[in-house]
Amino acid sequence: MMFPEVRMRRLRQSSRMRDLTTETRLHADEFVLPLFFDENIDKVKTTESMPGVKTYPLSGYKEIASGLQKNGINSVLVFGIPKHKDAQGSGAYAEDGVVQKAIRGLKENSDLLVIADLCLCEYTDHGHCGLLDGCGYVDNDTTLELYGKTAVSQAEAGADIIAPSGMMDGQIAAIRIALDDAGFEKVPIMAYSAKFYSAYYGPFRDVACSAPGKGDRAGYQMPCGNRKEAIREIDMDVAEGADMIMVKPAGPYLDIIRDAANTFDLPLVAYQVSGEYSMIKAAAQNGWINEQRVMMESLLAIKRAGADIIITYFAEEAAKVLREKNGRN
Ligand code: PBG
Ligand code: ZN
Repeated sequence: MMFPEVRMRRLRQSSRMRDLTTETRLHADEFVLPLFFDENIDKVKTTESMPGVKTYPLSGYKEIASGLQKNGINSVLVFGIPKHKDAQGSGAYAEDGVVQKAIRGLKENSDLLVIADLCLCEYTDHGHCGLLDGCGYVDNDTTLELYGKTAVSQAEAGADIIAPSGMMDGQIAAIRIALDDAGFEKVPIMAYSAKFYSAYYGPFRDVACSAPGKGDRAGYQMPCGNRKEAIREIDMDVAEGADMIMVKPAGPYLDIIRDAANTFDLPLVAYQVSGEYSMIKAAAQNGWINEQRVMMESLLAIKRAGADIIITYFAEEAAKVLREKNGRN
């Protein structure tokens, strides 16, 4: 018998052959673009540590509504930067809060699917995701009450999905009960279930002005090395009524994404976070990597690991690449 009998390269010899045998494909329908709205500005603003990411004034929903869907992006995750911060994060659940206004604007001017990030850290003057007790500890159970109120105010504003990101214990059950009591039993919860205590959130905190003043988030976000604990966290969110589950960050946690995909049947979301985005942008700006190829490879890896939905700051750029590829003949 002649060697080699099996030639793996037979299926790699042309782009047609490679397209036919591709195992993992990306589609713009599965992308979610994070959007930032800031009450303190009246013109679009950019932040140095997140090149290409815009912070919009409240009036920005007009520009967004016309631009995004034309580019094939149908889902957004909304964050707000309020004028006023206080110890209770009261801007998070104010009827006329920045996120509530942004949601209303987007819903009235587009048919985007609007996902509301639910947390207090952009709204508290101390920058933590929940209420502090007298000793600087983030108190779980009093925070849950405010998460419930926030969820209801976001649903009242028209949010299609509520996405709690604060990593308090019992937050999914508390939010589910609050939503149901207010008549929002049809509003799904996208649970940030396995959210790690990650250094990759740095650039986001520059944009969202949400870095904690004192202390850090290690007391509520997950330790980076814990794989079994991620499954327990997700399991609990499912038991509490989550409709979708999430692993965050994405690229450095592909093993967790794969574990979750193997273990749970719910739609699995992965959040490619700010640091993942900015590292690619920075290397590309230096000419050290091919930005487009690394961007697509990073997203493909997340999908291949098992994610069904990808939250990414690259959503528009990646959708454009996919469109151009499909237009090619
Ligand atoms: C708020 C929140 C954070 C992110 C999403 N929601 C920041 C944090 O936990 O400090 C991070 C997103 C990113 O880095 O892109 N809790
Ligand atoms: Zn938070």
